[in-house]
Formats: sequence, C-alpha cells, structure tokens
Amino acid sequence: MNQIADGEATVPDDTVAILAGGLPAVAREIVLASDPAQKVRLANAARSAWDEGRLSLGNVSSPHAMPARPGRPERPELLPPRAMPRRTTSGEKGRFALLHALAHIELNAVDMTWDLIGRFAHIPMPSQYFDDWVRVGQEEAAHFELVSRRLADLGGTYGDLPAHDGLWQSAQATRHDLLARLAVVPLVLEARGLDVGPSMIASLSQSGDKASAAVLEVIYRDEKHHVAIGMRWFRFMCQRHGVPPEATFHELVRANFRGPVKPPFNDRARAEAGLTPGFYKPLTAFGAPR
Ligand SMILES: [Fe+2]
Ligand SMILES: [Fe+2]
Repeated sequence: MNQIADGEATVPDDTVAILAGGLPAVAREIVLASDPAQKVRLANAARSAWDEGRLSLGNVSSPHAMPARPGRPERPELLPPRAMPRRTTSGEKGRFALLHALAHIELNAVDMTWDLIGRFAHIPMPSQYFDDWVRVGQEEAAHFELVSRRLADLGGTYGDLPAHDGLWQSAQATRHDLLARLAVVPLVLEARGLDVGPSMIASLSQSGDKASAAVLEVIYRDEKHHVAIGMRWFRFMCQRHGVPPEATFHELVRANFRGPVKPPFNDRARAEAGLTPGFYKPLTAFGAPR
C-alpha cells in the first residue's frame, strides 16, 4: 500500500484522497463516518495537514453540502432524552456511566465542530478562524479517545449503555446561521461544561479514580479555550454585522436553544474565556424579563 510518512504514523491512501478534496470535504467525511475511530483518525490527519499547510480550503465559492445527521455506530442505542434510564451515580458502575455519557458528548462535539467548519466554510473569514476550529475539532476527537480509553480500562466500551439523541438538535436548529451556531454551541453548551467540570473532577478524585480525574482535567483546560475561541469569533461576527454582542446573543439563544440557561455558573472560568455575566445571566429563569 502506498503510504505517505506523517511523523511516526503513516497516512493511508483513502485519507490522502480525502485530504486532497480540501478542508470542507474532509469535514464532511468526518461527520459522515459511522465509525468513531475513523472520525478520530481523520480529525488527527486533518489537523496535522492543516497546520503543515498540506490541506487547502478548496473551492468555497458556494456552500458545501453537509449531512443532516452525523454517521453513528450501531451501538450505543440512541434514545430521546426523556426515554433515558436514570443513571447510576455510585460506585464503579456510576463512574462508568458518567464516562460513557461524557464519551457521547465528546463524539457529538467532534461532529458539531466539523459540521461548523464544513457548513460555513463559504463565509469569508480570516485564516485564524480555520486554524482555531481545526484545532478544536482535533481536540474533541482527542477527548473522545481519552475517555474511550478509560472506558476500556474499566472493562467496557463506548456503546455499552444507551445514549441520548438530543445534542444534535442544537446543530440542526442553527444550520443556517453561523452567528447562531457560535452562540448556542460553544457559548451555551460548551460553557456548561465549565460549570460542571470542577465538581466532576473532585468527585472522581475522591472516589480514588485519579486516571479519570486526569482525563477530565485535560478536557476542562481545553474546553475553556474552546469557549474563548467561540467568544472571539462571535464578537468578530457581531462587529462585522454592526450588531451589539450581548443583545444579539440573548436574541439568538432564545430563538435557537430550548430551555433556560441554568445556574450555578462557574463565573471565573467563564470570565477567563471572555464570557462575562452580561451574556448569560439575563438568560436564566430569574434573569431580566424578555
Ligand atoms: Fe471536548
Ligand atoms: Fe470543546
């Protein structure tokens, strides 16, 4: 098999062919792939190729067709959020269930990020925008891999438990509008990860599972940076369109996100990512009236 050296690893022929199609085509293949391991491989290959200047933006004169739904493995069984069985929270079973739910969130994050990259690639943006999102897309794949490895260490695998199918809704709801996508995905959903991260890390540490706690530390650190990237491009787009960032954020979240934005907030981590209370406090059930 003809392979091209890529550091220590090699890039298989099919990946070389996919990379030749340009960034939006790679993004599409990642979202379409039903095997999570293939999503991870492609995301890693795309990041190296992009960072080394071997992957071009391709033809972005018109919108790139992205799949309505991502490819998924046969397992886990996907259930509507309301049909999900109550999760065990204690003991090793509880930790496995927590890590399994996290693996599912990270796999969705892989698809949501590459969907953002592919779907909106025709909008002229500075090259830093693509550098940022390609990095995020590869880091989400790395998170999925790290959590999957912990599932394996605990004797199981991603797919052993049912997972809920509600996360893709946010991607669907914002498929026509980059500004709405930025408001809902990094600045509501990922910011929520900053709120719950520290207590999850503490409880894993207390139960003696230092290895899982260490994985969550990596994810928490990276997610803070992802929220900062979301903030940077949300502000950039607001400036481009001449609209006020906070009021626009409130409008877009109310129109595209179901339910209130829930406290308690990790105000400090949010502020470190540039997400100040004026953005999210008015969206809580007790926030300013509409
Ligand atoms: Fe992540
Ligand atoms: Fe993230």
